[in-house]
Amino acid sequence: QGPLRVALLGCGVVGSEVARLLTQQAADLASRVGAPLELVGIAVRDASAPRPLAASVDRSLLTEDAEGLVARADIVIEVMGGIEPARALLLRAIESGAAVVTANKALLAEDGPTLYKAADTAGVDIYFEAAVAGAIPIVRPVRESLAGDHVRRILGIVNGTTNYVLDQMASTGMSFDAAVKQAQDLGYAEADPTADVEGFDAAAKAAILASLAFHTRVSLEDVAREGITSITADDVAWAAQTGHVIKLLAIAESVTGDDGAHGVSVRVHPALVPLAHPLAGVRGAFNAVFVEADAAGELMFYGRGAGGAPTASAVLGDVVSAARHRVLGGKGPEESTYAALPILPASTA
Ligand code: HSE
Repeated sequence: QGPLRVALLGCGVVGSEVARLLTQQAADLASRVGAPLELVGIAVRDASAPRPLAASVDRSLLTEDAEGLVARADIVIEVMGGIEPARALLLRAIESGAAVVTANKALLAEDGPTLYKAADTAGVDIYFEAAVAGAIPIVRPVRESLAGDHVRRILGIVNGTTNYVLDQMASTGMSFDAAVKQAQDLGYAEADPTADVEGFDAAAKAAILASLAFHTRVSLEDVAREGITSITADDVAWAAQTGHVIKLLAIAESVTGDDGAHGVSVRVHPALVPLAHPLAGVRGAFNAVFVEADAAGELMFYGRGAGGAPTASAVLGDVVSAARHRVLGGKGPEESTYAALPILPASTA
């Protein structure tokens, strides 16, 4: 078996770690896959811009010609983020028969069905373990391991920045603004922390998880959303006095509406979590996803939900899966059979 050509789109915090792991662990990856993985290019907006690339990565792989790179790849990894040009490049990759690995939660939450449909038509695989909760294996367990069960509810702490902010407020009594500033200084929060503190990032992840768990199509606009900007130090102190901790939760659950219709409700909002609940112990910038299913009972997945290396770990796992399917034949994980379960407003929950 000849080498599989791998294209990397994006070389930021996650992309540079993916490039490092692909090159430093090349021998291990080749033995796990049954063929060498050859990194054939890294598409960036400005190839001359300074960037921290591991010494093992050949800088001449950097290119500004993303389309040309995609055209000569067997596997395309997209870690550039944003809607365009990521969507156009992924569609181009799929049409050319490449398997696709993406960490792009915003794109999947906004327009996942377009990508899934294109992948179905082309008969190629699309993997996105890194799009939800970084290093935590949660997409594959929900998509595959629990596919024979009936998921009742998912409760997730899926945004590390907001969990850090709320945790700092609870443990030190500091204000929301001071905690956000600290999160920025530590590199958790962006210079503009809106997507985190207003719950948009968590809502995108909630939409992806709900789609998989409930075998339906949930997009960002279906998710009722409230962030943590109005939470005060007094709220956090009051919660503690009553035996709770405030967490920003992504909640997706099977519900029955006022008219008796069965459906799914998806929402993100600050919630009072009893101290005895496993999610209450999730500290700092960690993530956790708590799943309640009929047969499995309660499950909890915990780990680092952000950062270069943790997210790259999930990306590389997907690359190995995609590559194995290429080498061994057959198809990767099937999209769930969507049953058009209605999405009910969060107020009926
Ligand atoms: N801003 C996100 C977080 C990063 O804080 O969890 C990963 O999506």
